[in-house]
Amino acid sequence: MKNILVTGGAGFIGSNFCHYIHEHRPELNLVIYDKLTYAGNIENLQGLDYDFYHEDICDIETLREVVKQHNVDTIVHFAAESHNDNSLNGPLPFITTNIIGTYNLLEVTREFNLRLHHVSTDEVYGDLDLDDPSKFTEETNYNPSSPYSASKASADMLVRAWVRSFDINVTISNCSNNWGPRQHIEKLLPRQITNALTGRPFKLYGDGLNVRDWIHVDDHNSALLTILEKGKLGETYLIGANGEKTNKEMIELIQEFFPDTPVEYVKDRAGHDRRYAIDYAKLKNELGWEPVKTDFRKNMAELIQWYKDNTNIWLKEKEAIENNYKSKGQ
Ligand code: NAD
Ligand code: DAU
Repeated sequence: MKNILVTGGAGFIGSNFCHYIHEHRPELNLVIYDKLTYAGNIENLQGLDYDFYHEDICDIETLREVVKQHNVDTIVHFAAESHNDNSLNGPLPFITTNIIGTYNLLEVTREFNLRLHHVSTDEVYGDLDLDDPSKFTEETNYNPSSPYSASKASADMLVRAWVRSFDINVTISNCSNNWGPRQHIEKLLPRQITNALTGRPFKLYGDGLNVRDWIHVDDHNSALLTILEKGKLGETYLIGANGEKTNKEMIELIQEFFPDTPVEYVKDRAGHDRRYAIDYAKLKNELGWEPVKTDFRKNMAELIQWYKDNTNIWLKEKEAIENNYKSKGQ
């Protein structure tokens, strides 16, 4: 692994991955390939050395050119339309980017005999009941609920078929909900923190009791590096950190820092998944990986500080995003 193409490297997890590589494997060359949709921001890459392509993964010719020009040996594929609420309002970009885009990366991987890691989500497994003692494992059946998760499930199916039929060098990971710096303010935690910072109430969907299994983005990225370096080709690994919390509990944690901000219950998400939970025993037992950033209060304090320090990144968009949510009753 020498020259890594990072698709979606200007987004939340992809940009944190580039910072993680810069810190832990500074000898690697980063080639970042991102369409810079509303979710991508070049400012997320401040302080890094990298080559950048403002391009679309749906354009296979450009992908081929970039791979050749930089002698790329490894692709880490983050690029996606990633927000469930947007997929309910307009599914088409999810179908094109998440499915056709992944197909293009598989074909380029095959053509140039590259190593590919495909970044996927726990949402492909659907949801669990609140009182179900089980968690998702690598053997759980796919059962996606939203256009977003169905598009990610479709992409995973393509990857598995390309491994079986063409024997390409690929690994897949399915991770739970990430938190950390550089996340777009449409998502739960940045939305609530920036609501509090701009004098708006916290907004909880439905009864606020849906459960998400939180992992710090640095732990997700340390797991990805472990899989890249030690993972078995053709395998799928689930990534999690035993971080199950209700949305209400997460808002109460933010409220400890903003005691005067009230909670408002708003219209629920259509088809809202009730609970996600990851069993990461395979990654722990086979590759020796463990999460380390599991102190929720410390993570939250750092996250709030990051949004306070980086108003230049989010403030100009805040009002338009809230107006959009308001028009949907949320
Ligand atoms: P994000 O929305 O913050 O970033 C996505 C990035 O992809 C953006 O920079 C965007 O500009 C880029 N992009 C979108 N369409 C593109 C295209 N056609 N061509 C090139 N670039 C394009 O997403 P994220 O939260 O960082 O998620 C990254 C990946 O991780 C996604 O595949 C997502 O499904 C997966 N994932 C996310 C989470 C989470 O909690 N956020 C958890 C598990 C898995
Ligand atoms: O599980 C992994 C997935 O986590 C990733 O695949 C997705 O890309 C990522 O966006 C995330 O999906 P969620 O739908 O879980 O994340 P979101 O931040 O949109 O919402 C988290 C929970 O909070 C969910 O139950 C909906 C709820 N919610 C969300 C918002 C934006 C609220 O209660 N209020 C809100 O304002």
